[in-house]
Amino acid sequence: MPTQHRIIIGNSQQMTEVTSGSVQLIVTSPPYPMIAMWDELFCKGEPKIAKLWQHLEANGSDETVRQIYDAMHDNLAKVWAETYRVLAEGGIAAINVGDATRSINGKFQLFPNHTRITEICEKIGFITLPYILWKKPTTKPKYKGKVAFLGSGFLPPNAYVTLDCEFILLFRKGKLRKFEPHHTERYESKFTKAQRDEWFSQIWDFKGVHQTASELDRRTAAYPDEVAERLIRMFSVKGEMVLDPFLGSGTTVKIAIVNDRNSMGYETDPKLLQTITQKIEKAKKDKAASVTIVKRS
Ligand SMILES: C[S@@+](CC[C@H](N)C(=O)[O-])C[C@H]1O[C@@H](n2cnc3c(N)ncnc32)[C@H](O)[C@@H]1O
Repeated sequence: MPTQHRIIIGNSQQMTEVTSGSVQLIVTSPPYPMIAMWDELFCKGEPKIAKLWQHLEANGSDETVRQIYDAMHDNLAKVWAETYRVLAEGGIAAINVGDATRSINGKFQLFPNHTRITEICEKIGFITLPYILWKKPTTKPKYKGKVAFLGSGFLPPNAYVTLDCEFILLFRKGKLRKFEPHHTERYESKFTKAQRDEWFSQIWDFKGVHQTASELDRRTAAYPDEVAERLIRMFSVKGEMVLDPFLGSGTTVKIAIVNDRNSMGYETDPKLLQTITQKIEKAKKDKAASVTIVKRS
């Protein structure tokens, strides 16, 4: 049966278009707190954050830095609460996030976004499940083809460990889902033993999978199709509803179409609509999927 998809240009802090308990799976990646490329977006979304940065520049302290980090996570927490509301009992939320390292006022430190999101989701009521570490292609600086360490990289004790992995945090709402024996769509959604062994192991390094991001994917901080593909096939059944509250370039909707799931995606930036429609165009045609675009006024 052809699937249905809705793209909503609007803020997912309130997903009024989604009925409570109607979604089986969330697959998403938010803007990462304390990663410079997302500073502007957080400031636009929350004027308090813009004021705190100004205060930091004028005469801020470590306390101001902590307030900025807290405010960014408070902002995302509104979406995590909505995510919990729209999920069905037994539904899964898969959240891809990276930690951040940053030097502010001469002080270098780690902002462990994955622990903060886990704590917030537990407070909301989610059950925390074992997470996945996605080993990204190296982002270490290279010199003559070899990984280069800057400064005193060979001298103890002041060098830093690099962030090679991102997290795919996994949460469940309530108890495990139950199915009728021999549920047709569930059996049609089966994965192979090789897929099971690889997908359900804790470290994903995509050996042999093309992972070079295009310029557009880098600009939108898109995850590779393979991330969405694995998560959708691991945690949902054909014909079910997958939601992405931070849609970006539209990867989740595209892969939902390809894998015969219904989907919804929220994106605040109207400029991304063209990117999204281009990204899903081929899948939409091949699968004769129905796609509705809603622009909130
Ligand atoms: C990391 S990107 C998502 C990339 C996406 N996974 C992909 O593959 O293209 C996060 C996106 O969330 C959007 N965004 C941030 N806050 C939002 C909100 N409250 N509601 C809807 N979209 C939001 C940003 O504009 C950005 O495009």
